[in-house]
Amino acid sequence: MTIQWFPGHMAKARRQVQEKLKLIDVVVELADARIPNSSRNPMIDEIVSSKPRLMLLNKADLADDKKTSEWIHHFQSKGIKTLAIDAQSGKNMKQIVSGCQELVHEKWERMRAKGVNPRAVRVLIIGIPNVGKSTLINKLAKKNIAKTGDRPGVTTAQQWIKVGKELELLDTPGILWPKFEDELVGLRLATTGAIKDTIINLQEVAVYALRFLSEHYPNMLKERYDLSEIPEEIVELFDEIGKRRGCLMGGGLIDYDKTSELVLREIRAGRLGDLTFESPSDWIEE
Ligand code: G4P
Repeated sequence: MTIQWFPGHMAKARRQVQEKLKLIDVVVELADARIPNSSRNPMIDEIVSSKPRLMLLNKADLADDKKTSEWIHHFQSKGIKTLAIDAQSGKNMKQIVSGCQELVHEKWERMRAKGVNPRAVRVLIIGIPNVGKSTLINKLAKKNIAKTGDRPGVTTAQQWIKVGKELELLDTPGILWPKFEDELVGLRLATTGAIKDTIINLQEVAVYALRFLSEHYPNMLKERYDLSEIPEEIVELFDEIGKRRGCLMGGGLIDYDKTSELVLREIRAGRLGDLTFESPSDWIEE
């Protein structure tokens, strides 16, 4: 999918999310554990401020555990309850349910005190494209996927998916845009595959990614591409990798597009190891 957001799209997306917020008790915000800040909508705090929020760092299977802990600590210190998950394998799904329940605990207690039996917690999943929203909805829904039909009084037809007795999920997630006017954010999104390759300059992204790895994960880079040292010049690093992996054009010249594609494909698939491309401290500096 190509991300093409224009001011009109953004306003519409925001309106759609705001409509959905009226129906729910808890917002579950999904970010990519490899780029926890770059994969968020820049206005998210303002947009969802009226609702309790659970933050999920998805694709934690591909991220650096040490950095994931730092990010959890960072968001928690801002008062946002945060969990690391892997929606594909279904890791920590039970904690999502209990996390949502915790967020409405006081409200539910007040209802109980008035003699009202609390209902299932109504939840909206929200996040930028490709962060794993559909994967998570499917994983949470499992076999007991049961649509409860429209609610009376709701004009636009919204379907709810039951997650056990405890949760009801809106079946269409809220989709928001990332902060792509920031070049570094765009490079991080492209490196992790959130922005599709048809609209990016592959070589530029691969240069960013290889420079980042040379600085932060040199041993993984050396091991994957069988390098005794990492060359100082980026073009030499491309040459070494291209040569070893047979990314060549006629006359034995290195095919830089092919090399870029290979490197990015392997990074995204976790072939070099678990990688995180930003730290909470980067955002203080930036
Ligand atoms: P979206 O609804 O937010 O747009 O995202 P979606 O669920 O479609 O997920 C996007 C891609 O991310 C999918 O890959 C999905 O399998 C993968 N994904 C989701 N959660 C996880 C996770 O926890 N770990 C890992 N490793 N991958 C995850 P895909 O269908 O293969 O799409 P693509 O590779 O063509 O982008």
